[in-house]
Amino acid sequence: MTKIIDKCELFEKVHQFKIETPHLVSKAKAGQFVILRQNEMGERVPMSIGGLDKENGILTIVIQEVGKTSASMNRMKIGDSFADVVGPLGLPTNIEKYGNCICIGGGVGIPPIYPIAQALKEAGNNVTTIIGARSKTLLIYEKELGDASDQLLISTDDGSYGTHGFVTTILQKMIDDSEKIDMVICVGPVPMMKAVVETTREPRIKTFVSLNPIMVDGTGMCGACRVTVGGKTKFACVDGPDFDGHEVDFDEMTKRQKMYIKQEKISYDKFLHDGCNVNKQIEKLNK
Ligand code: NAD
Ligand code: FES
Repeated sequence: MTKIIDKCELFEKVHQFKIETPHLVSKAKAGQFVILRQNEMGERVPMSIGGLDKENGILTIVIQEVGKTSASMNRMKIGDSFADVVGPLGLPTNIEKYGNCICIGGGVGIPPIYPIAQALKEAGNNVTTIIGARSKTLLIYEKELGDASDQLLISTDDGSYGTHGFVTTILQKMIDDSEKIDMVICVGPVPMMKAVVETTREPRIKTFVSLNPIMVDGTGMCGACRVTVGGKTKFACVDGPDFDGHEVDFDEMTKRQKMYIKQEKISYDKFLHDGCNVNKQIEKLNK
């Protein structure tokens, strides 16, 4: 079953879904992802896991409307079902006792850091979480991450809440203050992950990044999610999504992420103008 049992708007164009997928949830671990299709004609969309309710078999995902399919998904209602939700995919985050861990989430990259912070805490680590958003109204998962962490630190780009600046403003201050940091893991926009990695490079702090390149099959067959790590080709869907941040070629990843921007825009504009014609296509096929 892949029924939406709860849905809410976190802020404009960003919705949180709770989906009934007991079998998937029983196997899933922090750091993994799923691939959803809205209907049988639909695009396969990779989504990070934003929460795992093992007791009730409920998966949480957060969808940001950035194109046609995410816009269409965000119009689904409680009681609707996704055609399929495949997973768990990818390797789980390497959870062990590191000592003092810093979990960093930026923008809509904040929800996936939540199960990771929970798992690191459960493994006996001291967890400090840093979350950042452009403004206070765009800040999500404050309560969840406050509960999951020993310490929660917040930044906003415009200074409307918490520290004025980026997540790296807080991280840099911790390093300057000689706080003991044994491991950093971050999820968010590529420029943020690149900036985190540059902040921890010189003090040689082990830093993991969760990469989200374009994906198609999610099983290592198509090559779409190719990234270069330590000079070697890796596939984020099967070798990741977590990698040693100091080894990632972010410039190549940024270029590859922008490969279909024009086509995505045309498709999104058409959707906003004409609506989705997938249901009509399915009707035609079924005739
Ligand atoms: P955003 O642009 O609003 O940035 C969020 C925060 O990230 C900022 O407030 C800031 O603290 C930090 N940040 C951004 N740029 C920075 C820089 N150059 N230096 C230092 N810190 C910086 O984020 P958004 O618009 O919500 O986008 C979130 C992104 O997260 C999307 O690109 C999405 O694809 C990505 N994401 C990634 C994953 C994953 O698995 N890696 C999962 C979900 C979302
Ligand atoms: Fe096809 Fe990773 S998505 S190889």
